[in-house]
Amino acid sequence: MIRFENVTKRYRGTKRPALADVDFEVERGEFVFLVGASGSGKSTCLRLILREDVPTKGRVAVLGRDLRSLANRKVPYFRRHIGSVFQDFRLLSTKTVFQNVAFTLQVTGSSRGFVQQAVPEALALVGLEGKEKRMPHELSGGEQQRVAIARALVNRPQVLLADEPTGNLDPATSVDIMQLLARINAGGTTIVMATHEAAFVDQMQRRVIELRDGELVRDETHGGYGDRSMIPQLVPEEERGAAATAALTAVQEVQRETESLEPLTAEMIASMKAAREAEASAESAPRPSGPRTHPIVLPEVDVAELGVADRLGLSDAADDEEVGPTS
Ligand SMILES: Nc1ncnc2c1ncn2[C@@H]1O[C@H](COP(=O)(O)OP(=O)(O)OP(=O)(O)O)[C@@H](O)[C@H]1O
Ligand SMILES: [Mg+2]
Repeated sequence: MIRFENVTKRYRGTKRPALADVDFEVERGEFVFLVGASGSGKSTCLRLILREDVPTKGRVAVLGRDLRSLANRKVPYFRRHIGSVFQDFRLLSTKTVFQNVAFTLQVTGSSRGFVQQAVPEALALVGLEGKEKRMPHELSGGEQQRVAIARALVNRPQVLLADEPTGNLDPATSVDIMQLLARINAGGTTIVMATHEAAFVDQMQRRVIELRDGELVRDETHGGYGDRSMIPQLVPEEERGAAATAALTAVQEVQRETESLEPLTAEMIASMKAAREAEASAESAPRPSGPRTHPIVLPEVDVAELGVADRLGLSDAADDEEVGPTS
């Protein structure tokens, strides 16, 4: 699905290559953490996958396409198959939540009917129904990142790239976003995520690719973060550890749930809406005073949301003409 063959990337005017002879392959449905110190080449990897840049040497193939031979005019079509989210959300500040998610669909010429159907589905998937008319500045950081994820998923991409998606979020909100990404992955979407969140990586035990000074130094199927001496510790380790443990429990629960997944029915959608409305009205009730806690719970509607993921084609095989079958 994604293949790096002896990829070297040297930026103009720099002595040391940002990536040196990097080789790896990501299969459909994998969840891969890209780790390594600042400047080790993680974002460069993601940029090459997205064809924002091309290797100096070697070959990058994504979804069966050699990106070197992909004509510039075909790049926007190619990118429809790849969602991307970033640390700084990158929402359009003058557009509403709905418009932000609809924007890429509109510029790539989707029909009005498709936009009207796909945008609410994507927003439901990330738990933001009812917030369509909000402006980005009226949302919390976690909600803004959910909008960015909805925007990344609305095209039903087969691959989701995430460059430090929790980098600007507090630990509890980071857990929410990790749960969401795990759920999206459980729906079949391949995820490659660059991160400095050592605790998440340690707890989730997914594939870990570690870069050091542009070289791939570790590729482990069920790995931890590894050396964390380079990570600045702004949040106490115990707090991060607790958040990550909670995330892992939630992720394992999602994995169990997906094994007995039912197709989404009209009743399920209705009950999902009702549950959310009930939740929203409960939330608007005055909160008891005292310290706010962040319980990590997987609401029952998650299974239904996974159904939405199914309908969104997140677990689907290739549905495209532009890009050939994956390897
Ligand atoms: N556009 C550019 N021009 C020149 N050098 C660049 C450019 N982008 C990145 N680099 C250099 O390439 C190396 C790898 O950078 P990259 O952004 O991929 O690292 P990273 O692992 O994502 O780091 P961080 O964890 O800080 O985000 C660094 O030495 C960086 O300075
Ligand atoms: Mg980076």
